[in-house]
Amino acid sequence: MTSEITALPLVQLGRNGPLIGAQGLGCMGMSEFYGDTDELESRATLEHALALGVTMFDTADMYGLGANEEFLAPFIAAHRERVIIATKFGYARTPETPDDWSIDNSPEFIRAAVDRSLKRLGVETIDLYYMHRRIDAVPLEESIGAMADLVRAGKVKWLGLSAVSAAELRAAHEIHPIAALQSEWSIFTRDIEKDVVPAAAELGVTIVPYSPLGRGMLTGREFAGTLTGDDARRHFPRFAAENRQANMRLVATIEQMAGERGITPAQLALAWLYAQSNRLNIKTVPIPGTRRRSRLAENVAAVSIRLTAEDMDILEPLAAAVQGDAV
Ligand SMILES: NC(=O)c1ccc[n+]([C@@H]2O[C@H](COP(=O)([O-])OP(=O)(O)OC[C@H]3O[C@@H](n4cnc5c(N)ncnc54)[C@H](OP(=O)(O)O)[C@@H]3O)[C@@H](O)[C@H]2O)c1
Repeated sequence: MTSEITALPLVQLGRNGPLIGAQGLGCMGMSEFYGDTDELESRATLEHALALGVTMFDTADMYGLGANEEFLAPFIAAHRERVIIATKFGYARTPETPDDWSIDNSPEFIRAAVDRSLKRLGVETIDLYYMHRRIDAVPLEESIGAMADLVRAGKVKWLGLSAVSAAELRAAHEIHPIAALQSEWSIFTRDIEKDVVPAAAELGVTIVPYSPLGRGMLTGREFAGTLTGDDARRHFPRFAAENRQANMRLVATIEQMAGERGITPAQLALAWLYAQSNRLNIKTVPIPGTRRRSRLAENVAAVSIRLTAEDMDILEPLAAAVQGDAV
């Protein structure tokens, strides 16, 4: 199951967007949050992902306080026609204010943020521009209106939202078509299935599941023990000592199932997402994050792994049994 394949099936971004590879690459960990990174290996990972048919590369202005966008710039420049670059605005933290986790959705902030991202990415147009988080303080009309202005100005091609409710998605879509909605979705985190996924399906919005491997937890029981130093996950409730035992029992189920099927737990986690998307009739492009070439073929191959109804039944109760919030 881990043999190299060179092309992914294609999925349309929104109703009018381009066809993109059915799996994207999360680039956040290449710059921040997940412990030490190896820049050369991360660069090689970007190239290898593209060679395997991954076309959407996910970043945000706040990852590495701008460093992640800058890191991606040479890669994008080398492959501008093939790469769909997705970035996000919303968190106020900057190199000068790294601990300011407040959120700003005001038109002034959006106008300044997009120019900073364009400069760091070294592009004239951002393909997919997400509102990273929404706060009620700014009316949706104002934020989406400002984002729509960016489309008209040619600074952005398609609009996205992250972690919003179904009602917010519908209201935003009325103001300007929303191409993609990025939210956490995995075997362990399924909150969006009830309302958000049906709304997205109805509106033709592509769902981009983030942390599809549960931030690494779904890749096996050994994973949590490998977190060292300043890895942010050591402070996340799901990885905390008081929840670890219960959660590792659930991961053991995943490991056992994967072993019996001759696939890896990461592949099972991704194959579950594709199967669940199929069931819910939603277009989906998960963005597993990795900084290593060695994981890519494995993750990409999950697109072709078919789970049975019985497999899905075994995995069904796990999310409700998970202990602790994701972050
Ligand atoms: N919109 C939002 O609010 C939001 C929030 C969080 C994340 N995101 C985006 O979503 C992307 C993915 O989420 P994530 O990075 O949080 O979590 P994830 O994709 O669920 O898991 C990433 C972790 O899994 C490991 N991994 C990847 N493939 C593996 C494999 N085949 N076997 C074993 N381990 C594997 C990675 O380690 P290595 O790097 O060492 O391979 C990394 O530690 C991020 O990069 C970011 O772009 C968005």
